[in-house]
Amino acid sequence: MTERTDEPGGEVAADETERFWEGHYQARDRVWSGRANPALVDVAGALPPGTALDIGCGEGGDGVWLAGRGWRVTAVDVSGTALGRASASAAGAGVAARIDFQRHDLARTFPDGVFDLVSAHYLHAPIEFPRERILRAAASAVAPGGLLLIVDHAGPPPWARDPHPHAVFPGPEEVLAGLALSPAEWRTERLGSAERPATGPDGEPGTLTDSVIAVRRGTR
Ligand SMILES: C[S@@+](CC[C@H](N)C(=O)[O-])C[C@H]1O[C@@H](n2cnc3c(N)ncnc32)[C@H](O)[C@@H]1O
Repeated sequence: MTERTDEPGGEVAADETERFWEGHYQARDRVWSGRANPALVDVAGALPPGTALDIGCGEGGDGVWLAGRGWRVTAVDVSGTALGRASASAAGAGVAARIDFQRHDLARTFPDGVFDLVSAHYLHAPIEFPRERILRAAASAVAPGGLLLIVDHAGPPPWARDPHPHAVFPGPEEVLAGLALSPAEWRTERLGSAERPATGPDGEPGTLTDSVIAVRRGTR
C-alpha cells in the first residue's frame, strides 16, 4: 500500500517511521514467511552472484536466499526488530558472514557503495514516506552493468476487507517513469505484472498480483 507522498514536503518525522515499523514488527513474533519472494527467485535465480542491496529487507528472507546463492548482501531496514530477526535467520542458515545488516531510515540515510543487484520488494507503507526519492537513490546505487529490481503490490489482496481508503498502487509504467532514468544508460528488462499464489489471514487461498520492474544499467 502506498500513499502519494513523493511531493516536496511529503516527509514524516524520522521517529514516526521507526515507531510505525517497530510497532508493526513487535506486534507479532514473525510477520513474513521467511522465504524469498517469488519475483526475486525468478529474476535473480538466473544471475551470477555478486553484490546485492536489499532495501526494506524486513525479516531477511530475500537476503538470506541471495547469500545462500553466493551473493554478498547489504540488507537495510528502519526496524531494528526486523533486522534482529533477519540476522538470526541468517545465522541459522549459516550465511551471516555474507550479509551486512544496516539500519537506515532510507528517507534520511542510504548505504554507501554500488551493487550488482539492488532490490526493493514491497517498499510500501500506510504512512507518508518519500518512496520515489528512495527508489531514485536505489537506482543510483546500481553498479554499471547491474540490475535494479522493484516489485510492488499491484493492488490490495482479494481478502482485504477494508483497504486503506487513500491507498494507491502505481502501475509498473508509472514506477519506471518516476525513476527518471536516462534511456541512453538504462535498458528495461521487465515491465509488467506477475501472479503468485498466497494464503489469506483466515487460511483462504488466493492469487496476488505484483508489479515487476527490472532495469539494467549500461556499462558505458
Ligand atoms: C511491506 S515490508 C516488505 C519487507 C520485505 N521486503 C519483504 O518483501 O518481505 C516494507 C519494509 O520496508 C521497511 N521500510 C519502510 N519504510 C522504510 C524506510 N523509510 N527506511 C527503511 N526501511 C523502511 C519496513 O520496515 C518494512 O520492513
